[in-house]
Amino acid sequence: MASLGHDVVGIDTDDSRAVSLSRGIAPFHEPGLPELLREGVNSGRLTFSGDISDAYGARVHFLAIGTPQGPSGAADLSYLFTAVAELMPFVQAGDVVVGKSTVPVGVAARIADVVESAGARLVWNPEFLREGLAIRDTLSPDRMVYGVREGDTDSVAVLDDLYSQILLSGMPRMVTDFATSELVKVAANAFLATKISFINAMAEIAEVTGADITQLADALGQDPRIGRRFLNAGLGFGGGCLPKDIRGFIARAEELGVGESVSFLREVEAINLRRRDRAVQLVRNELGPRLVGATVAVLGLAFKPDSDDVRDSPAIDVARRLSALGARVVATDPHAITAARAIVPEIEFRATAHEAMEGADIVVVLTEWADYKELEPAGILTLVSTPTVIDGRNCLDSDSWSAAGWRVLSLGRAVPAELVAV
Ligand code: UDX
Repeated sequence: MASLGHDVVGIDTDDSRAVSLSRGIAPFHEPGLPELLREGVNSGRLTFSGDISDAYGARVHFLAIGTPQGPSGAADLSYLFTAVAELMPFVQAGDVVVGKSTVPVGVAARIADVVESAGARLVWNPEFLREGLAIRDTLSPDRMVYGVREGDTDSVAVLDDLYSQILLSGMPRMVTDFATSELVKVAANAFLATKISFINAMAEIAEVTGADITQLADALGQDPRIGRRFLNAGLGFGGGCLPKDIRGFIARAEELGVGESVSFLREVEAINLRRRDRAVQLVRNELGPRLVGATVAVLGLAFKPDSDDVRDSPAIDVARRLSALGARVVATDPHAITAARAIVPEIEFRATAHEAMEGADIVVVLTEWADYKELEPAGILTLVSTPTVIDGRNCLDSDSWSAAGWRVLSLGRAVPAELVAV
């Protein structure tokens, strides 16, 4: 918002976070964010505070509060409602409160009642940003959705003004009711998760028939109705959004008495989790009883590349399970080691892929960082004890790895011994 020319104050209950942001230090790895942050801070348009009263005087108040998964699977809305209650004394009549948080359908109307009691208005304006591409997705989104109270053209005008530079590109901007705007976000994530699990279900078929999952995805993706994006088979989806959003969606649909409408999402999740089982199974099959005490090099810990986020990371899950089976797991990641160390202290960490692979009995690629795709298979052959690699993300050039002398196993390609007669 500051880069668009607005004066912005970012408020967090965590004072230390506000202090480090004021120094231009981003609390997580996001390409381009430190530069943009420093630019905003240096321009004087962007400040941070731990004091909610600094919201007073703003015309627009963004709610960007986390809605983590609660113990039942439903979203935990306590942080969001606390923030709204704390903000309200500083909201003036005529202000606009903008909800960015991902919420179960029905929450925006409840918050609107609170906001309207102060003479202000609410717009539910979900974000669709991807980690690693957050700045691009925020400043050049592919659509903008404003959920408003019926007839609230004033708030629409305020947001159009706020986003005028973004809207210049002609990107679609849709005005809906609150429920539609809330559903767009969770429905989009449910669709994306379903697409990934669809191709991973095909991967299970490919593994027993000898079909090649990447070629299958390439051919399917040529159909513009299907499209190639989000058809990368492998270890499946994780992170802070897709897994929790589909569980929250199931929980909310059940509350509304329409649980059956999204019961297929349980299958989507089951397929997703089976891919992790498969990765562990491939290692077990390769090493047999030698797994206990064997050195397994794990390349990648983040839930996806260009992120240091390890929340619900499939890579962490696989690493933890291999360690629990008795393997000595030696892992690396370009950015996620600090975060991973806090949740899987039982594994060993190395700064580089080369160090992690030294003496390895098997190498497992679990996050498709560019660094790993660019590894020179002939050059690293002598590092390992046994040149076997499991490509958990279908990201390696298997022909060149095989040509260099590696045994390459992939999620979504057959292991010859496992082929069934077709
Ligand atoms: C997602 C949505 O894409 C975004 O629109 C929403 O706002 C937040 O949730 P993000 O969590 O950053 O964004 O990651 P995304 O790029 O969607 O990937 C999610 C997971 O799916 C990752 O674990 C990734 O490795 C996996 N994935 C993605 C696949 O396994 N195959 C694919 O083809 C694409």
